[in-house]
Amino acid sequence: MASELQRKWWKEGIVYQIYPRSFQDTTGNGIGDLRGIIQRLDYIKDLGVDIIWLNPVYVSPNDDNGYDIADYRNIMPEFGTMQDFDELLSGMKERGLKLIMDLVVNHSSDEHPWFIESRKSRDNPYRDYYHWWPAEDGVPPKRWSYFDVDGDAWNYDKTTNAYYLHIFSEKQPDLKWENPKVRKEVHDIMKFWFDKGVDGFRMDVISFISKDTEFPELPEKYQGDFVSFYTDGPKLHEYLHELHTEVLSKYDVMTVGEAPGIGLDKALDFVDESRGEMNMFFHFDLMALDREENEVFLMRKDPWKLTEFKKIHSEWDAVFAEKGWGSMFLNNHDFPRSVSRWGHDSRTHWFKSATMLQTFLLTMRGTPYFYYGEEIGMTNIKFENFSDYKDINTINRYHTIEMQGGDTKAFLENEKDASRDNARTPMQWDSSEHAGFSTIRPWLQVNENYKEGVNVSDQSEDAYSVLNYFRRMIQIRKDNLGLVYGDYQLLQQDNEEIYAYTRTAGASRFLVLLSFTTQRTSINLSELAFNKAKLLISNDDVQAVEGKTFPMYAYQACVYQLD
Ligand code: NOJ
Repeated sequence: MASELQRKWWKEGIVYQIYPRSFQDTTGNGIGDLRGIIQRLDYIKDLGVDIIWLNPVYVSPNDDNGYDIADYRNIMPEFGTMQDFDELLSGMKERGLKLIMDLVVNHSSDEHPWFIESRKSRDNPYRDYYHWWPAEDGVPPKRWSYFDVDGDAWNYDKTTNAYYLHIFSEKQPDLKWENPKVRKEVHDIMKFWFDKGVDGFRMDVISFISKDTEFPELPEKYQGDFVSFYTDGPKLHEYLHELHTEVLSKYDVMTVGEAPGIGLDKALDFVDESRGEMNMFFHFDLMALDREENEVFLMRKDPWKLTEFKKIHSEWDAVFAEKGWGSMFLNNHDFPRSVSRWGHDSRTHWFKSATMLQTFLLTMRGTPYFYYGEEIGMTNIKFENFSDYKDINTINRYHTIEMQGGDTKAFLENEKDASRDNARTPMQWDSSEHAGFSTIRPWLQVNENYKEGVNVSDQSEDAYSVLNYFRRMIQIRKDNLGLVYGDYQLLQQDNEEIYAYTRTAGASRFLVLLSFTTQRTSINLSELAFNKAKLLISNDDVQAVEGKTFPMYAYQACVYQLD
């Protein structure tokens, strides 16, 4: 076990992410709410997870489903009240569950009082809370926006004859972190939630917060790669360090940054403990694997290879081998369902590939993050019609393509695999109408496969379900600290069918074999010294190991303890 790695609750914990809009509706309006989560706390506890990450639940006009916040200290009425929140938190504490919230402070909503004030006049006290470019200086240098129909991150505002910056939608103006008052506001918001007893934050696009406020023309090297430019802000580390000194260091909490654009070379600048910044972050290398270059939402033409998948995980593991800590995830609210993307969601391979992927996350070093529904193998919905989509990203991109006379049909085909709405369909609780999520038609269609066993109720009763495998696999991680902290060693890196690795902590050694193919195959591990391989878990019958050759069925996962 790497000597420098210190034990921490947030390293040993398993995270369960909840998209509250889609988890459980208790008011009959087709939208999930906090009372719905309260109602399901026993279920969550029984999964064996330790930490819940809640996507934003604050007051928001919902241009981007809560990632546009109009009041950082109150709960979105659709989701409930502060009293509900307090009850949720105490219900979690009673059960020994931790709560991390989403901290969305690269931008606010344009309906936040700060922005309402800021846009009123050039000398308003809140003017400097946002980035403004006076129109008399001409058109501002190009900045790219994710959700804007014309891709322009500057929006002209008539009242003060100036442009404001919005890297996301025009209703998500970027906050000006260069203003110390803004930073102080952020610190106070964090303290407010910590003082309530919250255990940490997932920090939305935290790598974008620092900007060169001179707004120079984009340097040549960043043409076509805005993300790297946005993450290269001059004072990023200064602000993160300040967050740590002013707030985080005073509480026993965890932080996980969302860090698009941060590569291996910069990883330790964020999470080396001695720097005092954050605990871990989400990198985007895996999420980019099956996508076009610099286009995290467009599918790449040729299929991804297992060797590439292994390379990403092996390199990231190596970065954190002595310092810092990693986070492991295969999907979230911004990316399609893991079984549809990295496994196989056909009837034949669904169970095996869903459980194989769970085995992967639970046997790697780094904190594992599961996204609601992943425990029952929820799949992409693959909408047929444009009108089925609710996500601003799909809707605005479609309009852009339409405006440019592009191929909207091809785009809709892409969205069947790539759209964020694939991951946002309602939780499938049982086989009753609307999958037990709501009593009326939900805000986003339910995936019809809830009638075919992809639901909690059916799977609870089946010892061999995806759900019960998940519970067993979690227990195995819990029983074997070596799976959390142990050294990782990749075996046979060129094998395109099987991902094999060992995890070693002192005298205990584990062998993990994961098949990523629809065919029967086998792996010979003659390079590995061991006398006996004792099976801890598998998602299929285990065929006799002959010498050092392990036969594997399609998408089989096996975890062995080696003597
Ligand atoms: C990243 C979030 O995960 C995503 O859902 C959101 O649209 C953007 N940040 C903007 O806040």
